[in-house]
Amino acid sequence: MANDTPLFQSIISHAKEYGFIFPSSEIYDGLQAVYDYGQMGSELKKNIKDHWWKSMTQLRDDVVGIDAAIFMHPTTWKASGHVDNFNDPMIDNRDSKKRYRVDHLIEAHAEALMAAGQKEQAAALVTSMEGLLAADDFVGLKKLIEDHQIKCAVSDTCHWTDIRQFNLMFATEFGATSGEEDNKVYLRPETAQGIFVNFLNVQKTGRMKVPFGIAQVGKAFRNEIVARQFVFRMREFEQMEMQFFVRPGTQKQWYEYWKQCRLQWHLDLGLPADKYRYHDHVKLAHYADAACDIEFDFPIGFKELEGIHSRTDFDLRQHQEYSKKKQQYFDNEIDPSTGKPFGNYIPYVVETSIGLDRMFLAVLSHAYEEQDLSTDEKQDSRVVLKFPAALAPIKLAVLPLNKKDGLPEIAQEIIAQCKDDFRCFYEEKDSIGKRYRRMDALGTPFCITVDYQSKEDRTVTIRYRDSMQQERISIDSIKDLIKKAL
Ligand code: GAP
Repeated sequence: MANDTPLFQSIISHAKEYGFIFPSSEIYDGLQAVYDYGQMGSELKKNIKDHWWKSMTQLRDDVVGIDAAIFMHPTTWKASGHVDNFNDPMIDNRDSKKRYRVDHLIEAHAEALMAAGQKEQAAALVTSMEGLLAADDFVGLKKLIEDHQIKCAVSDTCHWTDIRQFNLMFATEFGATSGEEDNKVYLRPETAQGIFVNFLNVQKTGRMKVPFGIAQVGKAFRNEIVARQFVFRMREFEQMEMQFFVRPGTQKQWYEYWKQCRLQWHLDLGLPADKYRYHDHVKLAHYADAACDIEFDFPIGFKELEGIHSRTDFDLRQHQEYSKKKQQYFDNEIDPSTGKPFGNYIPYVVETSIGLDRMFLAVLSHAYEEQDLSTDEKQDSRVVLKFPAALAPIKLAVLPLNKKDGLPEIAQEIIAQCKDDFRCFYEEKDSIGKRYRRMDALGTPFCITVDYQSKEDRTVTIRYRDSMQQERISIDSIKDLIKKAL
């Protein structure tokens, strides 16, 4: 799926124009599927990250956080199955030389069929694809592509190579001598393994009792092939993951718990329920006994935002085997069926894994609104980002009506009062109307205008972003009013 819907294009342009997201190393024409967060974007991203971290660790007494290194011992990736299994089936077009992920190529064709009103054909195509993918039947998949005359978007031909597996991990070298296989290390393709290899460190030093979780936020790297989807699919991205270690046999119940709990987290942010849906996996990853995606209605359609995976004891068992170090937990609680402690076992794991950049895109695309404010008298419009106030990069803009007569000093006094508690912004250039529009475009929920009356009675005008309503309040009440709203 390309990022070429008009709405998606407008959001991408807006994100660049207002300092949210820039293409990486843009002066050299950018680097495909890599992006930089600007002065506004980094604030929004940090607010999302902090919100996740707080709700997953600080507000719970059964989850703790860690920050593991990006580089890990190379055997980690052998044990986890990523060296052998972290592959995507790819197909190349012989004319354009363009490479496609097979499932994406077929899904894009199914979406085109849907758009053309051929819903049943589209559904049948996706069902066939899922069956063939589940069976790793690459010959059948190629035949499916040919039978449906699926064409390359660049060459417009059906001249395809055979389907091959392509590993998504980036490798680099450690130490001084290059070219030796022993020096090879990977940039982690998921943060989860940093949690697994620290399971016993955390459990013992934190005196944690199963069930408990370990959370982490950090960079992950994948050599994605289909990469024209802005921050939805990047080669360098951030994950917010949590592994919840449970007693074997209880994983189903914890899987259901986390499925509900994580969806509720999204809804509690004020994002509407009709923008979300679950997608239960038909083809399970090599480590899972149940898995689903929480999908979000992005401008490119419903797509995966977060994954909930019941990973069994696969990872810890593999690390035990490869490291030769026991990964067991002693459960001294009494098993009512035997009257004895549950004893030693390798815990099962339920994972919640959300892409920070995808969450950023969900928040940004839902917040983005183009509003026509025209009246009989005049044409008017605005672009507004209706971020939840708690996530907005700037909470309060303070705008003196004039650059002189003591108004900037009052504005600065307000900023000095508030900046310890939340992010403020001072602006004195341009007309007040233009400044309001700029703040709308940045998603600032509150603007304060300091005018001549402020000098007399220490009151100011507060303007609310979403309703555009204004009211007069005292300078001394600003901080509390905004803190309450946050
Ligand atoms: N530890 C499990 C795991 O990594 P995943 O479904 O491959 O599972 C989890 O990834 C989440 O990471 C996804 O739901 C998505 O939000 C995010 N993600 C994965 N690949 C991404 C990419 N190339 N760019 C941005 N986000 C990505």
